[in-house]
Amino acid sequence: TNRTFTMIKPDAVEDGHIGAILEKITASGFRIVALKLTQMTVADAQEFYAVHSERPFYGELVEFMSRGPIVAAVLEKENAVEDFRTLIGATNPAEAAEGTIRKMFAKSVGENAVHGSDSDENAAIESAFHFSGREMF
Ligand code: GTP
Ligand code: MG
Repeated sequence: TNRTFTMIKPDAVEDGHIGAILEKITASGFRIVALKLTQMTVADAQEFYAVHSERPFYGELVEFMSRGPIVAAVLEKENAVEDFRTLIGATNPAEAAEGTIRKMFAKSVGENAVHGSDSDENAAIESAFHFSGREMF
């Protein structure tokens, strides 16, 4: 068993998809071990996405991710990181497989509804960015 970190991004929160996305996640065998509605400041988003700071879309990404509330969560399941990335689908919803969360809810390669950590190491770093030890169960 291990853990991954996810965010329901501002686009999906604005569109009222929190419940449907959490239902899909739990129905797929993930246990929620931390959960909150929160908002990243511009500085938070710059730090969270620092790895992308040289990419041409960095400014747009930071603006998007800080524009409204998100749902942050830590999820537990065997093979969590890889299985969650399979569940959310390709970064670009036009390329996402049928039945994936991004296929169902994402609008574009930028506004793509959900985040999923890309490694166990980053899952731990990203979880600690948003949650204290007392908030993870
Ligand atoms: P995350 O789970 O959110 O990390 O997505 P990912 O791992 O599938 O993609 P990646 O880490 O490469 O990019 C991080 C995020 O940057 C994406 O989820 C998008 O929100 C945004 N992004 C990536 N490529 C583009 C792009 O070409 N244009 C824009 N506007 N945003 C992009
Ligand atoms: Mg990524």
